[in-house]
Amino acid sequence: MAIRPMNVAVVGATGAVGVEMIKTLEKRNFPVKELRLLASARSVGKTALFQGREYPIQELTPDSFQGIDVALFSAGASVSREYAAHAVKAGAVVVDNSSCFRMDPQVPLVVPEVNPEDVKKHQGIIANPNCTTIIMLVAVKPLYDLSRVRRIIVSTYQSASGAGAKGMDELLQQTRTVLAGGKAEPKVFKWPYAFNVFSHNTDIGENGYNTEEMKMVNETRKILHDDAIGVCPTCVRVPVLRSHAESVVLEFQDKVSLEEALEAWKKAPGLTIVNDAASNHFPMPCESNEQYNVLAGRLRYDLSTPNSLAFFLCGDQLLKGAALNAVQIAELL
Ligand code: A2P
Repeated sequence: MAIRPMNVAVVGATGAVGVEMIKTLEKRNFPVKELRLLASARSVGKTALFQGREYPIQELTPDSFQGIDVALFSAGASVSREYAAHAVKAGAVVVDNSSCFRMDPQVPLVVPEVNPEDVKKHQGIIANPNCTTIIMLVAVKPLYDLSRVRRIIVSTYQSASGAGAKGMDELLQQTRTVLAGGKAEPKVFKWPYAFNVFSHNTDIGENGYNTEEMKMVNETRKILHDDAIGVCPTCVRVPVLRSHAESVVLEFQDKVSLEEALEAWKKAPGLTIVNDAASNHFPMPCESNEQYNVLAGRLRYDLSTPNSLAFFLCGDQLLKGAALNAVQIAELL
């Protein structure tokens, strides 16, 4: 059956994720009839290329969504809060990359490899999960299907792209400055980013976990429909441009062997196994950058407790962590 071409809007079209959304729509041959690129008034006059044609960046207003079928939002939670309702009112389905609606019980939170059926429950808005949660669950879900996971202990190594184009610029600028003998001057982040590692830049709550970590806890439960699963995250920024890495330990209800786990990963959508112990070749950002698939490997038994496996993964934060996942959701529609 041929797919009906759709009128698509990208909100935040000049941002790090928005640019990747446009590229992903093109690369995946998404059936676009009309493309409307929206950003702030600051960007009016700029253009972006799609299928060899230049499209003007238009200012986002409440009237931007007439005739739009699908609106991909990636301009931050406050923009989504203000404008998503206008898009829905105009008849569009919103796929929102911000945290604004993720925990709203009316809004499905979807990783297409994990819970595609949840898309059907939407009432106009579908939320794209947090990047660290998306890439983790692409690797966890095939193993969860072998035996229920009781507990996840995860440490993240997060890239600058999670803070948008300005975060990436800050890392590049500071690296140049330090290499030239200067001192890194933090602007976007509180701490020096070049040649440094620091706890994730979101606020720490009373329970000692920062907002990014609590996203991993709550979103994992919602996506897996498992309120009992325990998640203990430690989220950290590392000076990498666009891929997140994660060290993950899973405690299962029953024993899962390495062979069973690898077999499940081999069949898993969206995942590439990088697990070559002989040559010490495991997932790395330099190999996951600009890739659609999550790389997973370094798979081993957790020797400290029964029924537990440890592994490492990497995924492109801008693609599977954001733009690709959003376009895949639109494809499900
Ligand atoms: P603009 O470039 O015009 O500021 P990033 O996450 O890489 O920083 O990108 C954020 C995206 O969100 C950009 O496209 C930015 O547009 C857009 N944006 C930010 N604030 C607004 C706003 N108030 N209205 C529309 N777009 C916005």
